Amino acid sequence: MNHLKIAPSLLAADFGNLERDVKLVENSKADWHHLDIMDGLFVPNISYGMPVVKAISEYASKPLDVHLMIVDPDRYISEFASSGAHILTVHFEACKHLHRTVQAIKAEGMKAGVALNPHTPVRLLEDIIQDLDLVLVMSVNPGFGGQSFIENTYEKIRKLKELITAKGCDTLIEVDGGVGLQNAAKLKAAGADVLVAGSAVFSSEDPGATIEKLKES
Ligand code: DX5
Ligand code: ZN
Repeated sequence: MNHLKIAPSLLAADFGNLERDVKLVENSKADWHHLDIMDGLFVPNISYGMPVVKAISEYASKPLDVHLMIVDPDRYISEFASSGAHILTVHFEACKHLHRTVQAIKAEGMKAGVALNPHTPVRLLEDIIQDLDLVLVMSVNPGFGGQSFIENTYEKIRKLKELITAKGCDTLIEVDGGVGLQNAAKLKAAGADVLVAGSAVFSSEDPGATIEKLKES
C-alpha cells in the first residue's frame, strides 16, 4: 500500500519546548518536519526565521520541509539552504519570475516546491509543473494554524493530479491547513501524497499516535 507522507507543522508546537517537540516528531512515524516562515507582509503574521531553522536542523535527522510565506523569497534562498532546509517551497503569488526562483532553489541543492493560495488556479502551473518537486495546495488562507479546511481543495487536488499525470512528471502533492483525521483519507483519495498537520497533531492527547493514524489513512 502506498502510504501518505506526514509533515507535522511545528507552528503548533510549544516554542518553549521546541527541542522536545522536534524530538517527538523525530521519534514518530512522521516523514518530514514542516516549518512555516511568515514575514508579516505576505501574510498578516510573523513566525520565526533562519536561526530557528538552523537550530532545528542540528538535532533533526528527518528532512526539513520549509514553507516560505514571504514576499520576494529569492533574497533568502541561499540562507535557507545553509540553515539546513531540504525542501524549499515558495508561494506562486510571491514570485515575479517563478522559473528563475525554482532554478535558484535547485542550484542550492534543495528540492523546489510551489504553494498555491486557495484562490490561485492549478492551471497557472501548466508551464512549470515539470520543474517542480512538489506543489503545496493551501487548504486555508496562509498565516495561521487552526483554521477551517476549505472544501474546494479536493477539486484542486484532482485537477493538479490530472496535470501531473498528463505531463508525465512525478511532482508530489502536499496539502496544508485544516488537515486531520477527519479528512486525511479523502485527501489521499483525491491524489494527495503529503499531508501537513499542525493543530491536529500537537493538540491531540497522543501526537505520536495521531501521526501514525494520519499515515495509515
Ligand atoms: C498556515 C501554515 C500551516 C499551519 C497549519 O499558514 O502554512 O502549515 O501550521 O496548521 P493547521 O494544521 O493547524 O491548520
Ligand atoms: Zn505550512
